[in-house]
Amino acid sequence: MGRLDKLPPYLFSAIDEAKNKARAQGVEIVDFGVGDPDLPTPEPLVNRMMEAVANPEGHQYPAGKGGGDLRRAIALLMETRYGVTVDPDTEVLVLIGSKEGLGHLPLTCVEEGDNTLVPDLGYPVYGQATLLAGGEPRTFPLKAENAFLPDLDHLAGLMDSRTRMLFLNYPNNPTGAVAGPEFWRKVTDLAASKDVVLVNDAAYQEVTFTPEAQTSLLQVADCRVNRVIELHSFSKMFNMTGWRIAFAVGHAGVISNLARVKESMDSGVFTPVQDVAAFALGDGFEKLLAGVMAVYPPRREVIQNALREAGYEIYASGATFYVWARVPAGFSSMEFCSRALQDIGVVITPGNGFGTGGEGWFRISLTASDGDIAEGAKRILGWRP
Ligand SMILES: Cc1ncc(COP(=O)(O)O)c(C=O)c1O
Repeated sequence: MGRLDKLPPYLFSAIDEAKNKARAQGVEIVDFGVGDPDLPTPEPLVNRMMEAVANPEGHQYPAGKGGGDLRRAIALLMETRYGVTVDPDTEVLVLIGSKEGLGHLPLTCVEEGDNTLVPDLGYPVYGQATLLAGGEPRTFPLKAENAFLPDLDHLAGLMDSRTRMLFLNYPNNPTGAVAGPEFWRKVTDLAASKDVVLVNDAAYQEVTFTPEAQTSLLQVADCRVNRVIELHSFSKMFNMTGWRIAFAVGHAGVISNLARVKESMDSGVFTPVQDVAAFALGDGFEKLLAGVMAVYPPRREVIQNALREAGYEIYASGATFYVWARVPAGFSSMEFCSRALQDIGVVITPGNGFGTGGEGWFRISLTASDGDIAEGAKRILGWRP
């Protein structure tokens, strides 16, 4: 079987099809499906882009691993926000979105017959990138009773001499679960003891509701000693999903290997976009970020209150703009979400779209307008599936 044949089918296509059909029939859809911020990139960043793009110096091939200004701004962010010191030259790499970095990471170390460990449930790219590199993704479950953290004994049991990478994602999509220092310490030790590269996908690092939720793996794991890497993204931080810019920070050897793979694949991020990213991390950072994040807590409350009042069990998450809740007894995730679309025109993502561990759950994304949030909450309240 070829590598492409091993890629799993796209589980959301049935929902997409049903959504488009309902829309074509004139149903007023409220879409809580996709996790893509509804609001535009903050105006100061858009203005900065217009200036930057007018500068012809930025029109040529960019600095592949990221310009010095941006890498220094990233190192400063890690220092001031997380107390983590990284060398901007060797321990920071600019990415064309964290998806790109995750997609290329297995190519740095996975050979035919090697394996990686990937969470079930989770973002599908870790496993798909492993398959495309010729490796075998081995899944480990994330369960509600363990606060959607992996069981470390189980993880240890899955590791063998061909295990190259362990992928984690905290703050977690889709559950909103977070990892604290104690967990990071233990999992870092485990990965080190088996000589496995530990990757944390921190795309939601700044979308948090409690200060404790905001622990970086690198605060605990010394990336000068441990082969750890963390991927952060501007996508959710500043409503910049379409701009395609993110960064990796961590172990210099892993960073340089990823840079080598990327050199053969891409030519980096458009210089004006890098310029805007460096500007965003500058003096106005806290204020800009607070402005972007301020929309989510009230939306979260509206949706959570409606769900609670309608009798749903919600997972008490600490981060991300998702609400993760159990489907009522008697329904599969897919049945429940299809019914929501059919009966009340609300698009909800079935939990099993993120892996078998998501069966019995559904995800609501808070990246819809305040008006749609209110309307969706009203429809959910008035509905008995
Ligand atoms: C868990 C997770 N990781 C990574 C990404 C990719 O983000 P980026 O826009 O930085 O490529 C997403 C996007 O939704 C995500 O949910």
